[in-house]
Amino acid sequence: MNLTTILLTKESGYALIQFNRPEVLNAINMKLMEELVSALEELDKDGDTRCIILTGNEKAFAAGADIKEMAEASAMEMLQRDQFARWDRIRKIKKPIIAAVSGFALGGGCELAMTCDIILASESAKFGQPEITIGVIPGAGGTQRLTRAVGKYKAMEMVLTGAMITAEEAKQWGLVVKVVPNEYLVEEAKNLAKVIASKPPVAVRLAKEAVLKSFDTTIEGGLEFERKNFYMLFASEDQKEGMKAFVEKRKPEWKGK
Ligand code: HXC
Repeated sequence: MNLTTILLTKESGYALIQFNRPEVLNAINMKLMEELVSALEELDKDGDTRCIILTGNEKAFAAGADIKEMAEASAMEMLQRDQFARWDRIRKIKKPIIAAVSGFALGGGCELAMTCDIILASESAKFGQPEITIGVIPGAGGTQRLTRAVGKYKAMEMVLTGAMITAEEAKQWGLVVKVVPNEYLVEEAKNLAKVIASKPPVAVRLAKEAVLKSFDTTIEGGLEFERKNFYMLFASEDQKEGMKAFVEKRKPEWKGK
């Protein structure tokens, strides 16, 4: 695939995707979304990739959906573009995705970060859902994922005023797990990706699946789902190896099955 809006680098155990529309602060147009989703799906199938990092540049992770691409669209055109189908495909990615955010993560940019599984931020990161200031509302999960992440009152303030929050605030509110100096952001994300890549892949997959399940089920249903994944892991060679290695006081050798 000839990529023009993202850059893809594969390292041992993980892959890094960098948005590449710096002239518009990585505004997310349909081409970027298509390239991103296709790359994620390829990486999800790739046996060497255990974890994926999404990042932008120092000025912007992504300043939202491309406003120029949708400014003149009718409701019918928006419906027929069916752009959210691509966003739904991101939800189906089984490998963990880390968002490494510097600069602006606004609108669709903030939503894209929240579609990821872990968010790291640099000191310059700014998160916001400014759609209200251009006459719309978040459309790619902002009202839902932000509310689950930071609670009703903070989400309501952000969505109704369009105000941005700093990396430090995002961390205090539980949206971001760690804030690091700008120059260390990608390194920090790579270190985290390497740790995840060193874990048994089937357990990583079922763990991600179980955590995500908590968003759309009751506690009862979620506990049952978790338990089934837990039992299922006893059918993996990696469970036998992991527990045997613990007993024998040695490092486990994962087979990924
Ligand atoms: C298209 C964008 C853009 C966007 C910035 N640019 N954000 N183009 N869509 N979302 C372009 C600008 O037009 C400009 O191009 C260049 O990037 C640099 O931006 P400036 O505004 O000059 O930079 P600055 O003064 O530093 O201000 C940064 C900013 C501002 C505060 C982030 O750009 C901004 O408010 N952007 C829009 C943020 C936003 O409303 N996002 C939500 C979009 S709606 P030129 O050609 O002039 O140099 C959304 C809905 C999601 O995301 C629904 C799901 C898909």
